[in-house]
Parts: sequence; structure tokens; C-alpha cells
Amino acid sequence: MAASSGIALTSTRVAPRELALGLSDPGISSASISFPSSNPSFRSLEITRKVRLSKRTAVVKAMSGSHSVDVDLTLSPRVNAVKPSKTVAITDQATALAQAGVPVIKLAAGEPDFDTPAPIVEAGINAIREGYTRYTPNSGTMELRKAICHKLKEENGLSYSPNEIVVSNGAKQSIAQAVLAVCSPGDEVIIPAPYWVSYPEMARLADATPVILPTHISENFLMDPKILESTITEKSRLLILCSPSNPTGSVYPKKLLEEIAQIVAKHPRLLVLSDEIYEHIIYSPATHTSFASLPGMWERTLTVNGFSKAFAMTGWRLGYIAGPKHFIAACGKIQSQITSGASSISQKAAVAALGLGYAGGETVSTMVKSFRERRDYLVKSFGELEGVKIAEPQGAFYLFIDFSCYYGAEVEGFGAIDGSESLCRYLLDKSQVAMVPGDAFGEDTCIRISYAAALSDLQNAVERIKKALIPLRSAVPV
Ligand SMILES: Cc1ncc(COP(=O)(O)O)c(C=O)c1O
Repeated sequence: MAASSGIALTSTRVAPRELALGLSDPGISSASISFPSSNPSFRSLEITRKVRLSKRTAVVKAMSGSHSVDVDLTLSPRVNAVKPSKTVAITDQATALAQAGVPVIKLAAGEPDFDTPAPIVEAGINAIREGYTRYTPNSGTMELRKAICHKLKEENGLSYSPNEIVVSNGAKQSIAQAVLAVCSPGDEVIIPAPYWVSYPEMARLADATPVILPTHISENFLMDPKILESTITEKSRLLILCSPSNPTGSVYPKKLLEEIAQIVAKHPRLLVLSDEIYEHIIYSPATHTSFASLPGMWERTLTVNGFSKAFAMTGWRLGYIAGPKHFIAACGKIQSQITSGASSISQKAAVAALGLGYAGGETVSTMVKSFRERRDYLVKSFGELEGVKIAEPQGAFYLFIDFSCYYGAEVEGFGAIDGSESLCRYLLDKSQVAMVPGDAFGEDTCIRISYAAALSDLQNAVERIKKALIPLRSAVPV
């Protein structure tokens, strides 16, 4: 019997973990949960009610004293259609291993290893001290939205007024709300692969259909405009662009974006969501172009950005969206019913972040310099491995390496390495380095290495990975 929060599972026909993850076999339909009879909040449940089972439902029998009640465990089909985030799952697994004393090197999370810069932290502390701890307007404080407008004008050549900005609890919320705001059931959301894990799932949550557009490592994972053109249908509602990209680090050159814009312009129904959250983490000579700044694109582009990556503020949970008022008001409407305004403290801190200077000034450029050193080290080190393919990332802090030359290997005591998932499991097991399988991003030939980690950890990780790969080489059938 497993107890949790006063609720005990008395049947193991549906495992608690499966229930939590929504993974239960539709054929397996019943588990019995007993509630302690002393808990008054469950008294009302002390009736037994038979719930009809369909293939997709499960019923739990709740016991209280001598009474029991059946509970239908059916989840919304919307939830059942969504996959849990693999990056989060692997990061959690690596953290659990580390807590159990295993010396895991964690290269899975999409999180800068730097602390939030001191002036930002100070602004947050001052906000608390000065009693800046109440609800803010739903769309964000006027102070922050004005600062964002100023940033977008100066750095991106984009003109917005504060009522064309909504500040949210992270860019993730900004993107989810935008997808929900503009997509109708059956609409298609075009997503170039490799993609950030959440885009297709957000489309599904909006009852839209993700349409995955493949790219190739030989083309630096950049989308071919001709393939885009042939993918667009009358159902296409949203194209999601991410530059610099998670997971590939690719940066779309301005010329390529212009070609994409010319295609988009031919389709009045098609909007573009431009995720620019890694904008400042870019390695010259690559430069960032905001899609909305291209001719004719302002009216149909929703620009997303945030503070998590460039300002090392992942835990502060702050992102924003900018776009034409009609769409932004819709995003704000959704937000007003699910979370309301973002943290007042984080918003004060974000004003300080934007006050650090153009593109985050020295503070951000120092972090970017470190990321670049690490990228150079990894590209050189893995480039020495025969058969491994790398497209040098121009931004963000990920290396998306094609390790498929090791697929097909059969390892004694482990089994077959037949794709990115088994290779990542093998490397976690043998080298104790946590990385994310490429299949989570729609590209099974690759695995993603986050280099938001100290150079010494990366050196150690490379050494361990290379050692673990040696036996695979000879185990791959020729
Ligand atoms: C491409 C991309 N967009 C958006 C986000 C969301 O960032 P946050 O919600 O922390 O602002 C992430 C985070 O990993 C990301 O990689």
C-alpha cells in the first residue's frame, strides 16, 4: 500500500506513477484509493457510485470506514494528447541521481549556470523591502512595459506601445497564451524541427495540429524556404520561428528571414510567432534580426522574449510578448483568467535588467564570452570523433550533435543502442553525464548537450563520454 497526502492506493492495478503521468493502459481500469475516515473533507465521498467504464476511463474505489466510492479517473483528451517534457524529466532524473550520491554531470537543463547579476538581485530585494509586493496590472507594470518598448525600439527596431505588450510568468506562458489565442481547432502550426520541446505540445493543447518541417544538419538546421512554401495550406495559422535556436544554436541570417517573410506575406491567414529568448546569446559574426522588423511582418508577428536566459533569471519567471494590439489583448484576456500579472518583485528586477545597457551591457557580454569559450571547446573536442557530425552553433548554449554513427551497437549487459534515447541512457549509465535525446526535439540522430556548465565540468564530461563511446565503435555493425 502506498500512501500519499492522506490518500492510499490499495490496488496496484494502475501504478501511482502511471496515474500521475497519465500513462495508464486504457485497458486497465480500476484502482482502489482509501481515504482515512478521520478526514472530514472526504466525508461527502462516503457513498458508492458506479461509474460506467469506457476504454479510456478508469475508476478508483474510494474507501472510508465501511463505505466506498467510485471515482472516474478520466483525464481530458487534451491532456492525454500532450507528452510530458523530456528535458524536465531527464533533469529531474539527473538531480535525483546526484542527490543519491552519484557524481552526475548535468548537461541537460536549459538554464545558465551563472547567478543572476547583482544589480538585478538588488532591485528584487529592494522591491520586497519597499513593500512592492502587491498585485500588478494583468499585463505588467507600466514601468516595465515602457522599458520593454524602449528596448524593442533601440535593439530590435520595433515600435510598440505599452498596450501592445503582455508580461507573463516566463516566456513559456507567453507562447502558450499566444498559441491558444490565435489557433482554432484543426488549424495547423508549422514548426521547423529540431524544435523546442514545448511548441508541438502547445499546439496540441490548443486543439491545433503541429506540422513539423524537417531541416538538416548539413544546412545548419535552417529551414529551406521552398519546403516552407510547399507546406503551407489554407489551414496554416501559425509559423513558429526560434532564432537563436534551442536545441541547435542555429541563427537565421537576415537574408533567409527575408525570403521566409516573402512567402509568409502571400498567406493572409498565416501569423508568425518569433521566439527570440536567446537573442543576446549570440556569437559574432552572427547577428540577430527580429522577424517583425522585416517589411510587412509587424502586423502578423508575435515577438516573444524573456529574462531567463540572457539575464540568468530562470527562477524569477518573467517573459513577454509584443505584437499588434488585437492579438496581444487576446493573450492578456487568457492571462487574466489563469494567472493575472507576473510577480511584482520580478518585474522590478526586470526593469533593472533592462537598465544594464544595450543588449545587457558588460554583464551579459561577459557571460556570452564564457559560453563562446565552452562552445569552441566542445566543437573542437567532439569534432575529433570520427563519424560524428556537428553544425557549429552560432547562438544559445546548446550543441546538437549527430551521434548516429554509434547506432546499431549492441552492448553486453545494456542492450541495443538504437537511437538517441538509448544512447543517452547508455551515456548516463556509463559516463554519468546527463544529456537530452534528440528525439525529444524531433531529430533522433542527435543528442543535445547544454554547455551552461563550468568549463572544468565540460572537460570532465567530454573525457567520460569519449571513454564510454570507445566500446560502441567496435560494436556497430559495418
Ligand atoms: C526556445 C525557448 N523558448 C522559451 C523558453 C521559456 O523560457 P522561460 O519560460 O523560462 O522564460 C525556453 C526555455 O527553455 C526556450 O528554450
